[in-house]
This record gives sequence, structure tokens and C-alpha cells, in this order.
Amino acid sequence: MSNRIAVIGSNMIDLVTYVERMPNRGETLEAPRFQQGFGGKGANQAVAASRLGAKVAMITCVGDDSFGHETRANLERNGVDVSHLRMVEGVASGVAPIFVEPDGENAVLIVKGANAHLSPEDVQAAASMLIDCDTILLQLEVALETVYAAVAFGAEHGITTILNPAPANPNLDLSELGGLDWFCPNESELAMLSGMPVDTDTRVVEAARQIIARGIRNVIVTLGGRGARFITADQVHMIEPVRVNPVDTTGAGDAFIGSFARFLSGGVPPLEALNRAARYAAHSITGHGTQSSYADEAAFEEFCRAHVASSVQ
Ligand code: RIB
Repeated sequence: MSNRIAVIGSNMIDLVTYVERMPNRGETLEAPRFQQGFGGKGANQAVAASRLGAKVAMITCVGDDSFGHETRANLERNGVDVSHLRMVEGVASGVAPIFVEPDGENAVLIVKGANAHLSPEDVQAAASMLIDCDTILLQLEVALETVYAAVAFGAEHGITTILNPAPANPNLDLSELGGLDWFCPNESELAMLSGMPVDTDTRVVEAARQIIARGIRNVIVTLGGRGARFITADQVHMIEPVRVNPVDTTGAGDAFIGSFARFLSGGVPPLEALNRAARYAAHSITGHGTQSSYADEAAFEEFCRAHVASSVQ
């Protein structure tokens, strides 16, 4: 495996406010802490995979504002190839105001800005780079047509495709995802997209099988503090949660998906790749912010030594 990953997706500037409690409508409330950081589900996943040693390129759009320039520089600092980052004139970069409560749980708003301009033409323009990748990683903070074009490109060229259908989008058309290899929703995304209840383990499996029946090979359902399930047409595997004291859960899902892509693309068998990804995501919630809480290989090894016996391959 070449461990070359293309992330076709979003970037945002995260504006994170840590609150004692969420304000009520019409209320002004003082909050103890604020942190600005680099985020966006696509960029988060790209940075996680890159910090763990994958060769990562991003196909993404930023605005021609200071956030756009800072985002490009941040991706470069993290070793992500930005040859296919496009700066869109006269448009603001994406931003995400985020609120984090004392138990580490969060509420996120996104303003897509330039991310909404990422188009199927951007995918086509990167074709020669994409053909050298073994994995294409996708999320839903960009236009659905762009996601469909990327899945079709992957299927046509034998490139593994992974889609994290977040944030939930009821307009996602599963029939446009033929040939998708990995579909990684959380519980609520699975419920919305399958149209089925997911309130028990059995129902999670039934809903995932409904997705698989539409031509998608593997489904990974993330269940927050309950770990994850890896479901195929004939198998169900449980990915145990890793217990830590949460500081900030923002971006944990992206840490999970980005690190899973890196491990899988590096030749780690899927089940082991998922267990490692669960550890990587657990580590991320012990720090503040999104990308600012992602470990590099050395820090991840150290965390694994302290919590569970494991190693990065
Ligand atoms: O998944 C967390 C991310 O969602 C944040 O970084 C924010 O930018 C939004 O995209």
C-alpha cells in the first residue's frame, strides 16, 4: 500500500467558546475561555492522517481572506499537499462557531463559505494526482455533486473510497454512491439516511444492512462513548471504546476517520485499523480544540503505551 490519501472536502476556522452552560435565548452570558483553531471535517481528517505519517493531499477551497491564507499555511505546516487548494475570489473562508460544555460535549455551527464552491471540476482537475492515491476520503461539508463525482472517480480507478456522511444531510442520495467502499456515519446520521430507528444494537445493524443493500460494501457506525460497530453483509464487529477523561470531544469523529484512513491505507487489517483509530480518537478528546488535540506518531505511541498495548505500523 502506498499510504497516499486524497481528502476531498472542507476546511474551517474553528471559533471555540468553552461555556459553563449554554446561554438561553435572549440571554447574555460570560464564558471562561475562547480558542481559535484550524478545523473543518476534511482538513481535520487530512491533518490526523498526515501527522500519523500518511502522504496526504487536499482538494479544497478557501476564501481570499486572511483565514484562507492561514488555512493554506496550516495545511502546509502539517505536511499536507495543497497543490489542489483553490482560493475563491471575493468569497469568505468557512468558519465554525463551536460551544463546548464542561463535560466536553459540543454544539457546532458551520458557515461553509468557500467550501460550497468545491465542484466536480475540481475533482477532475486533480485527476492525475488522484490516480496515484490509494484512498479518497470524503465528508459532507461540500456540495453533494462533488462527493458523488469523487466516489465515481474512485470506483472507476480502483481507489478505495471512504465517506463520513457528516454533517447529516437528508438530501444525500445513496444511489449516487455505487461502489463506495466505506461508509462511516454516527448513530443519528445512520438513522436519517436509512430511515430506520437505531435505538438498540440490533437496530443499528439492521439499519447498516439497509445501507449495504444499496451497494455500499462496509459500514462503520460510531457510537460516541459506546465505541463503534463495523458491519458488512455477513459480519458484525464491536470496536470497544477507550476510556479517558474528556476535555473537549470536538473533532473526535474526524480523528477517528482520518486515522482509520491512514492505518487502512498503510496496510493494517480493517478491524485492527478501527481499534487503533478508536485509541487515536480517545487521545484527541483529552486536549482542547480539534486539530490542536491531534497526536503525531510519537505522541500516539506514548498514549497507547500508557493506555493499551499497541503500536503504529
Ligand atoms: O467535526 C468537527 C468539525 O466540524 C469542526 O472542526 C468544525 O469546523 C466542523 O467542521
